Amino acid sequence: MGNSQNKITIDAFKKSLEEHRIIAHRVRNKNADIFRFLRTKILQTMNKEGFKTLAVSSPNYDDGKTTIATNLAVSISQDLKQRVLLVDLDLRTPSIHKFLGLNAKYGLTDYLEGKATVQNCLVKTPFERFSVFPAGHSIDESSETLGSPQMENLAKELAQRYSDRLVIYDMPPLLEQDDPLVFLPHVDAALLVIKEGVTTTYEIKRCIDILSSSKVLGTVLNSVS
Ligand SMILES: Nc1ncnc2c1ncn2[C@@H]1O[C@H](COP(=O)(O)OP(=O)(O)O)[C@@H](O)[C@H]1O
Ligand SMILES: [Mg+2]
Repeated sequence: MGNSQNKITIDAFKKSLEEHRIIAHRVRNKNADIFRFLRTKILQTMNKEGFKTLAVSSPNYDDGKTTIATNLAVSISQDLKQRVLLVDLDLRTPSIHKFLGLNAKYGLTDYLEGKATVQNCLVKTPFERFSVFPAGHSIDESSETLGSPQMENLAKELAQRYSDRLVIYDMPPLLEQDDPLVFLPHVDAALLVIKEGVTTTYEIKRCIDILSSSKVLGTVLNSVS
């Protein structure tokens, strides 16, 4: 028994999306168009380079990583050719399942603790080409981190299992924890979220240094006003 038991209706799903600023599925909408533009740019580069996995991160908490990563994933899944898996790697403050209104029994921390398989954890959403790997219960100080050998195996498995699927990793903040540093070598590319009026030039420089092990495709300026 896995997460697939907990089905959510499309209406409840869309309601949860709207409540959490996920708008990329809207048609004839200016904000959704911004994500379609970002999606096109990212898909072009990733397809050209043969990239399969993308990390979305930022310097600190509350910069908008999860909001941007989820909107991007929804937008990509609306592209008829592309499947996408969104993975919640923020194990201390998991939020994707909340953003999407999903009631998931298992997640990444259960997988790392040997209590669930990958199949147990995967959640299908009412959007056909969009699946989610939730974080599970939050962990604080733990040896089950993104640096574990299981995480390396998982990253390989997720990248290889389906040829027509992109994997987007919603990362922890880069300047608050060590976790992302050890995991970044396992992703092909990265997107840096910057919070307008909050992120400093120094923080951006430090993040670009940290991200250098994966290819930085670009930065997204999130204006929270
Ligand atoms: N552009 C924006 N305008 C207004 N609120 C935003 C914007 N981007 C994010 N938020 C809100 O800010 C909070 C933190 O965003 P989140 O994506 O969870 O950040 P992070 O994942 O970096 O911690 C959430 O409540 C989210 O809805
Ligand atoms: Mg987040």
